[in-house]
Amino acid sequence: MAQFPENFLWGVATASYQIEGAATEDGRGESIWDRFCATPGNVLNGDSGLVACDHYHRYREDVALMRELGVKAYRFSIAWPRILPDGRGQVNPAGLDFYDRLVDALLDAGIEPFVTLYHWDLPQALQDEIGGWGSRETSNAFANYADIVSRRLGNRVQNWITLNEPYVSTFMGHETGRMAPGLKDPRLAWQVSHHLLLGHGLAVPILRANSGPQARVGITLSLTPMYAATASAEDQLAAQLRDGKVNRWFLDPVFKGSYPSDLLTLLGDMAPKTEAGDAGIIAVPLDFLGVNNYYRAIISQGPGGIPDGIMQIRPEGAEFTEMGWEVYPRGLYDLLTRLHQDYSIPQYFITENGAAFNDTVSEDGHVHDPRRVQYLHDYLLQAQAAIAGGVPLAGYFAWSLMDNFEWAFGYTKRFGIVYIDYPTQRRIIKDSGYGYRDTIAANGGNL
Ligand code: FCB
Repeated sequence: MAQFPENFLWGVATASYQIEGAATEDGRGESIWDRFCATPGNVLNGDSGLVACDHYHRYREDVALMRELGVKAYRFSIAWPRILPDGRGQVNPAGLDFYDRLVDALLDAGIEPFVTLYHWDLPQALQDEIGGWGSRETSNAFANYADIVSRRLGNRVQNWITLNEPYVSTFMGHETGRMAPGLKDPRLAWQVSHHLLLGHGLAVPILRANSGPQARVGITLSLTPMYAATASAEDQLAAQLRDGKVNRWFLDPVFKGSYPSDLLTLLGDMAPKTEAGDAGIIAVPLDFLGVNNYYRAIISQGPGGIPDGIMQIRPEGAEFTEMGWEVYPRGLYDLLTRLHQDYSIPQYFITENGAAFNDTVSEDGHVHDPRRVQYLHDYLLQAQAAIAGGVPLAGYFAWSLMDNFEWAFGYTKRFGIVYIDYPTQRRIIKDSGYGYRDTIAANGGNL
């Protein structure tokens, strides 16, 4: 039987735009996701986060659910446009009050809050007025927003995550345009990545100052272990460069103090403009890295050469989720051990891991999701193996507490361990939710 450490932190995760709804209530400003969803063709079925899981009104019920599951920690994000409707300037007290109540409800339930400051819902005003993350001013605005939030919550929140997956906001938001703000400008995208990381670095000391010596501050990255399709030099190089763009471009500046040189060479004059001192700001020491991992990628070099021909191969006979993501638990082990080898990071949390499947409510009123039960079990086994191998992994957050708005896929993808019946907003704990509860209850951690 696999055993997790006694104090392993078992959690669940969500994000503001994906669950809150109440998008126009209590003074909340518009976010780039509201605008992106309002543009036809961007999101499946024209869905948006206008209502989502109505968590803004039902947060007490949702905290009670977490309590029922026995989770020890909850990772949620703060909607910047609730706090500063225009991104900067005037503070909206009702926005701060909401998170204040949520934090108190969590603490009353014995659940430790992990607060993400930026999970992609930038105030639209910053996009309109200064070009969003394309502008250095947005990095400063982010630091100011982090200050306002942590002054209010820092006496009760000890765990801070600055950014969620800057890779995705950078490249999906500004290169492929599949996510807000929906731009397709590669040069801008690389610049955006730098401003996101700069915002991160500026916010870290502020978060520490406002929440005392106990505080843990980190960043969450989307990390994908890359495997070359063959041993050929071409495929090896393709895998190395994909790893460079997806993983090292964000890991290296944060944990080593510089962008990876192979990528800089490849980028040439597409590389972001930086200023003296930026590297030091970005490399401010952190307490932990938040790891989001769902799948692996097998990489090959196609006819287009480097970089255009770098492509991902779909392995035959493998299992895929509803997202088309390969189920590959071993990848999590490989990833964690590699991180531990290549970077000196004091602590890790898996801040997201999970799977989307086509769940339905059965006649017995339950949601039977055996594939998700299996997925969580198998990935947790690999996490456990990484701990046994010496990786200081301190906790795991299942993505997600409940089904929610899955970005460009709208409500078509269900990641929850709790099912949401959207027309009635009824919550139904899935088999995977009960399984997770039992795993937690058996712990120190019998799987
Ligand atoms: C991650 C996001 C999260 C969720 C999962 C499925 O990239 O951080 O919000 O959408 O994927």
